[in-house]
Amino acid sequence: MTVSAAPEPTTARPGPSVASRAPPPRQARTPAGAFIGGAKGRLLPAHIPLRYFGAAVVYHLLAWLALAAGAAQWTEFGGGLGWPLASLHLITLGVLGMSVLGAGAQLLPVASRQAVTGWPLLTAIWWLYTPGVALLALGMGLARAPLVGAGALATTVALLAWAWVTGRNLRGARGMPGVVGHGWAALAALLLMLAAALALVAVWLGWPAPPRGTVLALHRVMAPYGFIGMLTLGLSYVLVPMFVLSDTPEERHQRVSLALLVLALVLAALATLGLARAWLLPAGLLAATAAVGLHLWLMAQAIRQGMRPLAGASGMLVRLGWCGLLGSLAVAWLVASGRPPPRAGLWFGLCLVGVWQLSFLLGMLQRIAPFLAAMHDGGGRRARTPSALTHEGALRLHCACHCAALLLLAIAITSGNRWVTLVAAGLGAAGAAAFGVFFAALVRRLRQGTATPRPPAPMRHGQPS
Ligand code: HEM
Repeated sequence: MTVSAAPEPTTARPGPSVASRAPPPRQARTPAGAFIGGAKGRLLPAHIPLRYFGAAVVYHLLAWLALAAGAAQWTEFGGGLGWPLASLHLITLGVLGMSVLGAGAQLLPVASRQAVTGWPLLTAIWWLYTPGVALLALGMGLARAPLVGAGALATTVALLAWAWVTGRNLRGARGMPGVVGHGWAALAALLLMLAAALALVAVWLGWPAPPRGTVLALHRVMAPYGFIGMLTLGLSYVLVPMFVLSDTPEERHQRVSLALLVLALVLAALATLGLARAWLLPAGLLAATAAVGLHLWLMAQAIRQGMRPLAGASGMLVRLGWCGLLGSLAVAWLVASGRPPPRAGLWFGLCLVGVWQLSFLLGMLQRIAPFLAAMHDGGGRRARTPSALTHEGALRLHCACHCAALLLLAIAITSGNRWVTLVAAGLGAAGAAAFGVFFAALVRRLRQGTATPRPPAPMRHGQPS
């Protein structure tokens, strides 16, 4: 294994010379840290990713509080407006969506070696998206269709604007075709997800719309597996090797996994539209299982070859997330084979959104946020390390509460007991508050560092040491 930080041009935008326009040499694997070299020249202003991450932290707490409000209905939830649906969307749009919007806007240009552009638009998107999600969740919780409609409109426009910015980033990408391919697939899924979501909102507004069951099924596949799933799986090829210091997995393996995932999504989408469901659904599941198997094998290889372990609370949450992904496929297989467990929808949602996406994303966020903050720290002075900006105690507390809350939710599904749901929501909220402490400490330490310039290093022989 070769581990090196390949030298990179630090200019923000490639110059017009022929040499700089030439495509980078074809490489099966990117050496560890290669895309980090020169990354400082491709950073968004710190307030952009941090405002997205900060909003995600707040929505995380609100999601658990909404679950507490809907604890009495949660174990019998089978769709429809109410606090359980509001809680679900505070997680999916508020935490997952918010974080991938911020992380994607920053990481895609870094990974694909191009200048970051359009940051005023990213600020405007945040100003539209953040209240849009709040309005949508409030409308869902209070079962007020017009509020749902207004929130959906704001959220959709913001997501479309973000898709435009991201599409531009992907078009200008140099290198990392596997990651870029996942990005394009996520954008396609985002469009289908939004179409299905707007059709669902039209149903609730009493407007003409396709049958609710069909669009709900399409939305259930395209939103978590398509939009959020494709982005998290694709960005994992950048993030996991970066954190464990290993080479990125081989491009052709990434592309095989991507092709299988796209096939699975297409087959599942056709099945939800009622086409040959009996064999398209198992065929899609087979493709998804193979793709996920390959992806996890690539991740395991990267971790094994890494110079640093994937340890601590973050490593635990990321691994828990991968177990949830496998768990969601296991539930889907049981449903497809005609032997669904009782409350299969809840099991599926818990594995997919709670255990996989939420755990994985919070595990990654607690590494990405200090990492980005450390890159912004210093400004000519000696920058602090990510761990110097991290409140480890708060993260350990969050991890314990998060795992306990998920375990209790599983017990609540099995027993149908609303009090267990309530305790789970309380523990989840305590964990979310601890995560908030971690984030507040990060921002405070970053601000302190920027506000109080450290004394210059002593001079030796006329040169700073
Ligand atoms: C503009 C964005 C979105 C809007 C307007 C929206 C709207 C809705 C609506 C109105 C429903 C209720 C369907 C019903 O029971 O009649 C629903 C269900 C659902 N949504 Fe979304 N959604 C959005 C984004 C997302 C995202 C990003 C995810 C996941 C990553 C997601 C996951 C789900 C799931 C899993 C359900 C099914 C809940 C169930 O019945 O089990 N949604 N959505």
